[in-house]
Amino acid sequence: MNVLVTGGLGFIGSHTVVELLEKGYDVIIVDNLYNSDIKVKDKITEITKKTPKVYIEDLLNKEAINKIFNENNIDEVIHFAGYKAVGESCKKPLMYYYNNLMSTINLLEVMKEHNVKKFIFSSSATIYGNPGIPKYVEDLGRGITTNPYGTTKSMIEQILEDLYKSDNEWSISLLRYFNPIGAHKSGLIGEKPNGIPNNLMPYILKVASGELEVLNVFGNDYDTPDGTGVRDYIHVVDLAKGHVSSLNKIEKSGSGLYIYNLGSGKGYSVLELVNTFERVNNIKVNYKIVERRPGDLAEYYADASKALNELGWKTEKTLEDMCRDSWNFMKKEIQSI
Ligand code: NAD
Ligand code: UD1
Repeated sequence: MNVLVTGGLGFIGSHTVVELLEKGYDVIIVDNLYNSDIKVKDKITEITKKTPKVYIEDLLNKEAINKIFNENNIDEVIHFAGYKAVGESCKKPLMYYYNNLMSTINLLEVMKEHNVKKFIFSSSATIYGNPGIPKYVEDLGRGITTNPYGTTKSMIEQILEDLYKSDNEWSISLLRYFNPIGAHKSGLIGEKPNGIPNNLMPYILKVASGELEVLNVFGNDYDTPDGTGVRDYIHVVDLAKGHVSSLNKIEKSGSGLYIYNLGSGKGYSVLELVNTFERVNNIKVNYKIVERRPGDLAEYYADASKALNELGWKTEKTLEDMCRDSWNFMKKEIQSI
């Protein structure tokens, strides 16, 4: 099977490419290097001893996508490419709507022209908005999103539902990720945030490495066991495996619209994550409690039972694994500078 992976040199895409190659898929990557590095291709080869075909192209360029489909016998597509920074999306909404929506529509149009109708989309738990309960189950449906990034995810889900309604030959999987962290155990691929990170684990890594002085813990007065925010962290390798399971489902069950949460089903607080990181890596993370971050919810985690029942997929890695593997990647990055 030939799988086109958009954004395949990015954080989640690269880990998924590794899992696909190891399962015997042939992989074609398209990425414009907006938030990735061509060196990731060699790292993937080092891990898998296989080399994916890579196109450095922008999905906003429909001609370029068409050329990729003409040159390869593509069976299915996993679509990771997009912009993902919540804060930036509030400052540059047009840039986010343009890139995330137009690249997806271009891709779907070219797929349709080539009669390729198997599609997996990177969605997010953010599409639930604030449903008022912490355990998010797929049936809750899309709520009111709180930032343009989240709205692009919600809009693309809607576009894909409409597409499926218009033509039942499509097999479409909407995968709603919770909070992906961790890195491949080799330490060769992982998440490389530029500048000052917004998300918790990248920030912890920069404090642990001495690049930033102190982690600001956003509030300790939430209605949670230790007062800090609770999230469902998922190891990126487990997440990558969820895509392979989802691809298997589409291949076996045929056309349909499939929606799955990809999370562990367990919530951990900010302080639990910090304490686990310190313990498994034997390193201090300076932190201080500050005001709540506007827009943050106290607690949410996945109801992960649908993915287990229908895909036979569940997370296997622990919070300890996530903390150890994230730091292992960061240490290798520091050594390579
Ligand atoms: P990432 O930024 O590491 O990867 C995205 C890749 O897409 C990058 O390599 C980037 O260069 C590429 N890209 C962006 N726009 C492109 C375009 N127009 N044409 C070609 N390539 C383009 O992000 P990630 O963390 O790997 O996330 C992958 C997907 O999962 C994204 O759609 C993201 O919104 C979604 N997601 C991520 C998270 C998370 O916390 N990381 C959570 C939920 C959903
Ligand atoms: C956010 C986005 C989500 C995105 C995800 C990426 C929203 C509503 N959600 O989720 O769309 O997919 O990032 O993983 O925007 N925290 C600190 N200090 C920090 C950073 C974070 O205390 O410096 C706390 C937060 O308050 C929160 C937890 O850590 O309780 C996780 O935060 P973060 O990693 O930013 O992810 P989310 O806000 O859950």
